[in-house]
Amino acid sequence: MSDGTGTVVPDGIDLLDAAAFAGGQPHAQLRWLREHAPVAWHPEADGTGFWAVTRYDDVRAVSRDPETFSSHRGGVMVADADEASLAATRNMMLYMDPPEHTRYRRLVAPVFKRPAVRAWLDRIGDLAVEIVDGVCEAGACDLVADVAGEMPSALISQIMGIPRADGRRLHHLTETMHAAPGAVDATTRADAAAEMIGYALEVARAKRATPGDDLASLLLATEIDGDHLSDEEFCWFFLLLINAGGDTTRNLLGTGAHVLFEHPAELERFRADPRGLADSAVEELLRYVSPVVHMRRTATRTTQLGDQRIAAGDKVVVFYGSANRDERVFAEPDRLDLGRDPNPHVAFGGGGPHFCLGAHFARVEARATLVELLTRLPDIEPDGEPRWLDSTFIYGAASLPVRYTPTRPTVARAGAR
Ligand code: HEM
Repeated sequence: MSDGTGTVVPDGIDLLDAAAFAGGQPHAQLRWLREHAPVAWHPEADGTGFWAVTRYDDVRAVSRDPETFSSHRGGVMVADADEASLAATRNMMLYMDPPEHTRYRRLVAPVFKRPAVRAWLDRIGDLAVEIVDGVCEAGACDLVADVAGEMPSALISQIMGIPRADGRRLHHLTETMHAAPGAVDATTRADAAAEMIGYALEVARAKRATPGDDLASLLLATEIDGDHLSDEEFCWFFLLLINAGGDTTRNLLGTGAHVLFEHPAELERFRADPRGLADSAVEELLRYVSPVVHMRRTATRTTQLGDQRIAAGDKVVVFYGSANRDERVFAEPDRLDLGRDPNPHVAFGGGGPHFCLGAHFARVEARATLVELLTRLPDIEPDGEPRWLDSTFIYGAASLPVRYTPTRPTVARAGAR
C-alpha cells in the first residue's frame, strides 16, 4: 500500500465534497490537477486516500487494464465497504474482473447490442410522447422529476414488462442507494437494495412461469454454450440495470436541459433543427455534463501511471468529467458545441470490459426526450433555481422548475420516429 508519495492535491481541492459539485463539477480544480498533478494523491477523511486520475489518456489506460486495475478487489466506489457488503456487491458485473466478468457479460450483452435496441426505438419514442403529454397542459413542471426521471423509469418498466408504478418505486430506491454517505444511513441503503432484490426475484419467478415479449424474459431464456443466468444472477443484474440506467439518464436529461438554458445561442441552434442536431447534441451533452463523476479501481500490483508510481493495493479513481474537458483532446473543452465532431468523450467509461452496456438505450432515450421537448414545448425556460443532488458519484440537478406555453396532449404515435 502506498504512503501517498507523490503530488498531493493542494488544500482547497476536495473531490469528495458534495458541495463542490453543486451547480457544476469543480472544473477549475480539475483543470489545475490535469495541468500540475494528473495523478495526484487525494487524502480521505474516513479512508486510506486514493490516486485521483484526471487526464483523458490516463483514464482510458486505467479503464482498459483490468488485470492491473481491479474492479473486484475493492469495488468501484471510493469509500471502502466492509467485507460483507463488498461480497454482496461483487454479485454485480460492475464489480467483477475477467474472466468472471467476461462470462457474465457474454450472457447479457446480446440484448443490449444496437439491433436489439433498435427494436425498442418506437416504444421509446412513444414513451417520450406520453411523458410530454403528461406535462404539456400544465404550463409548468419540474423537468427532473416529471420528465427526465420519468423516462428511465418508464423505459425500465416497458423493457422489463412490469407496471409503471413499480418502475417509479425502483427509481426511488436507486436514489437512496446513490445518495452521499452522510445523506442516507447504511441501514436505509441496505433496505433499499434488499427491497429491489426481493422484487427482482418475483419478476424472475413470474417471467419463468409466463415468459413475455420483454427483456427480463429474454435474459432468463438466454443460453450460450449451455450456460445461463441463475435466478440469483438475474436479480443482481436487475438491480445493477436499474441503478446504472436510472439516475444517469435522468441527470443527462435534467442537467443537460439546465446546460442548454445556460447557453441560449446553442439552445436556439438546437431548437431550429431538433432532429437534425439530436445525435451530436446528445454526445456533446454527455461530454459536457458527464453524469457519472468517477469510478474506482484497486491496483493489483505495483505499476506506473504517467510519472507516478502506484503501489499494489492503492485505490485509483478515474474522473470522467475531467477527462471530458481535457484540453489535450478536446478543442476549447469548456465551450458547449452541439455540433462537436469528433467527440470521443468517456461519459460511458474509458473503454475496456465495463464500457456502459446501456449506452445505446441512453442515447435513444435522450434523443427522443429532447426532440419531443423542443418540438412540443418550444418556449420552455427555467422557472426558478435548480436544486443539486447531494452526491459526488452521480452529478446533476435534483429538481429544475420550468415553464412554457400550455399545449394540448397528442395521441401516442407508434413508429413516428
Ligand atoms: C447517460 C446515461 C448513462 C451514463 C452516463 C452511463 C455511464 C456508465 C459508466 C461510466 C459505466 C462504467 C464504465 C466503466 O467502469 O468502465 C457504466 C456501466 C454500466 N452501465 Fe451505464 N450509463 C448510462 C446509462 C445506462 C443505461 C440506460 C443502462 C441500462 C439500460 C446502463 C447500464 C450499465 C451497465 C449494466 C453497466 C455495467 C457494465 C459492466 O460492468 O460490464 N447504463 N455506465
